[in-house]
Amino acid sequence: MVRHCVVTGSASGIGAATAARLREAGDVVIGVDLRDAEVIADLSTAEGRAAAVAGVRARVDHLDVVVASAGTAAPIPKALQVNYFGAVALLDGLRPLLARGPAPRAVALTSLAVAYRPLRRVLEACVRGDEESALAEAQEAVTLGKAAGIYATSKIALALWIRQQAVSPEWAGQGITLNGVGPGIVVTPLIAEQLADPRLRAELESAVPMPLHGPVEAADIAIVLGWLVSTENSFVTGQNLFADGGADAVLRPQVV
Ligand SMILES: NC(=O)c1ccc[n+]([C@@H]2O[C@H](COP(=O)([O-])OP(=O)(O)OC[C@H]3O[C@@H](n4cnc5c(N)ncnc54)[C@H](O)[C@@H]3O)[C@@H](O)[C@H]2O)c1
Repeated sequence: MVRHCVVTGSASGIGAATAARLREAGDVVIGVDLRDAEVIADLSTAEGRAAAVAGVRARVDHLDVVVASAGTAAPIPKALQVNYFGAVALLDGLRPLLARGPAPRAVALTSLAVAYRPLRRVLEACVRGDEESALAEAQEAVTLGKAAGIYATSKIALALWIRQQAVSPEWAGQGITLNGVGPGIVVTPLIAEQLADPRLRAELESAVPMPLHGPVEAADIAIVLGWLVSTENSFVTGQNLFADGGADAVLRPQVV
């Protein structure tokens, strides 16, 4: 059976590796990205999100897989617009197409940063779906010198949304699995500058301690994503699976 898949962020890094893996397996992939994709759309804006969903709808009448990988690590309010509001709008917008597939699967890229502390007020605004307030609170965080918390908060909001939505009638009730994958350090353009600078690299490696193997390649994360969206996974849903060389276990050794 040829499956129809959407991969956002397909032009680079983990999205590109996942799209390549799915295509190698014979699946049809519709990439969504700012450039070099079947559907060109900016997921940071309401118009871009609507255009992305419309662009996919124009190509297929059902979907088997959605992988939401588009993201930015820039410590600015816009990170919320891409990483949280953009990902959620895309997943929600494509859900009706997934519901028509025989074995539908969805997964979004979160981060090890889900193990960090969120910016509480930004998180609350995200959970309310109040994008304007979330951006204003994030701008306030920048002013207070807490911009570094914006990325983690965007991913915590996404992991929370996945956990709550996955078991709802709209997702589990329609037979759609919905999970998050939280990588540690993956060698992609997202963090190329940090990895190239010895001081920034040391900071990153101390924030993301990976005793097993250290930083991995995008293709390694694509393997994890590939299984989660395969027909073999009929039962795992609502999870945030850390694929991080042990970083979460180092930072949070207690199970309860
Ligand atoms: N690389 C890592 O170490 C790492 C670690 C944890 C989580 N992640 C997450 O994995 C995902 C993929 O990251 P990556 O490392 O492959 O990064 P990447 O920079 O290589 O790729 C990200 C892709 O998203 C696209 N994108 C960015 N903003 C967009 C927008 N507004 N609209 C549409 N597309 C947009 C980019 O054009 C790019 O092609 C991200 O969500 C990232 O937060 C990455």
